[in-house]
Amino acid sequence: MQISEVSLQGFRNLEELSLQPATGINVFYGKNAQGKTNFLESLYLCATGRSMRTKYDWQMVGFEAEESHIRLLIQKNNRKERIDVHLKRDTKKGIARNGVPIKKLGDLFGTLYTVVFSPEDLSLIKDGPAERRRFLDMELCQLSRIYYYDLQQYYRILKQRNNLLKEIQKKPPLQETLFVWDTQLIDYGERVMTARRDFLQRLDIIAAEKLNALTGGLDQLKIAYKPNCELGQMAERLERNIQRDIYLGSTNFGPHKDDILFSIDGKEVKSFGSQGQQRTTALAARLAEIDLIREETGEEPVLLLDDVLSELDETRQRYLMESIDGLQAFLTCTGIEDVVKKYISKDNLFYVENGRITSENRIDGEKV
Ligand SMILES: Nc1ncnc2c1ncn2[C@@H]1O[C@H](COP(=O)(O)OP(=O)(O)O)[C@@H](O)[C@H]1O
Ligand SMILES: [Mg+2]
Repeated sequence: MQISEVSLQGFRNLEELSLQPATGINVFYGKNAQGKTNFLESLYLCATGRSMRTKYDWQMVGFEAEESHIRLLIQKNNRKERIDVHLKRDTKKGIARNGVPIKKLGDLFGTLYTVVFSPEDLSLIKDGPAERRRFLDMELCQLSRIYYYDLQQYYRILKQRNNLLKEIQKKPPLQETLFVWDTQLIDYGERVMTARRDFLQRLDIIAAEKLNALTGGLDQLKIAYKPNCELGQMAERLERNIQRDIYLGSTNFGPHKDDILFSIDGKEVKSFGSQGQQRTTALAARLAEIDLIREETGEEPVLLLDDVLSELDETRQRYLMESIDGLQAFLTCTGIEDVVKKYISKDNLFYVENGRITSENRIDGEKV
């Protein structure tokens, strides 16, 4: 699939623009703080209904604007689709798919598949488990509405159970009603865990191949699901820890505490990998996502590459560019790396300056 037209108004510092991206790689070039990442954020918002940078929608409304509008036209294998997003400062955002407002975010998934590469991908490896769960959930939600629904239900019930645990501290006889939530929590929890396990098994195989290619066969990557409690054992865990849960007023076992383990040659990348290995691992995971989306949906995802080339050495730059050849990509950079030059034509180079995006083609200040 590809985006054939983007128009937006009042989104962050991008005041008003309309452009027709090319097939293949589109390069957005400009100095720092000009609006390049903002532009990618607007595309990501249309794909997922969320920003990749903030959970507060109002932050994306331009400082000077009353509201923001973004419209994407998407060309798929055999049909066209349209996404409209409307952000306001003080009310909920509106999203429409082909002109019809969607009621649940889940109804947006599947319209536009994206994979994002950014320097923050390193946090997938280096940060805490919450970051890795976010990665899992974003990927799985894009791929499966059922997962999105199960996950939502899981968190809803978890919240109710935690509220009840706090109530029980004050009124112990209420403990008798806990089983009502437990049955449902286990039910949705096990579904979430099963989906995560299956997804990671597939990601593991593909990412290992990518890493192999990236390192010339030197490093052997393993991605493993590290569930907080094993599948089939959630009921027992909850039962055994009930007094502790009541004492703490929160649920201490379940997929809300899951993690992913990345290891190279049997050693955890987070603790023992070099900075280079950490970066390559994150890159391999993102590249594997592309293949997974393609396998699962039959559609090619649109790629958002935010300032990633400067972080990679030449071999990895070349491998990345070759891997994404043939897909539509939106790539931002401050300086145009040599590896990119051979992909540039007058139709796919955009210059970003102070919130304006023009196809005034300049490289290093020179018009081309
Ligand atoms: N809601 C907003 N309205 C207007 N400008 C914003 C808003 N949010 C951020 N900005 C501005 O956007 C600029 C950063 O844009 P960004 O896309 O991150 O830059 P870069 O080109 O380096 O990727 C900053 O100057 C910031 O002040
Ligand atoms: Mg940026």
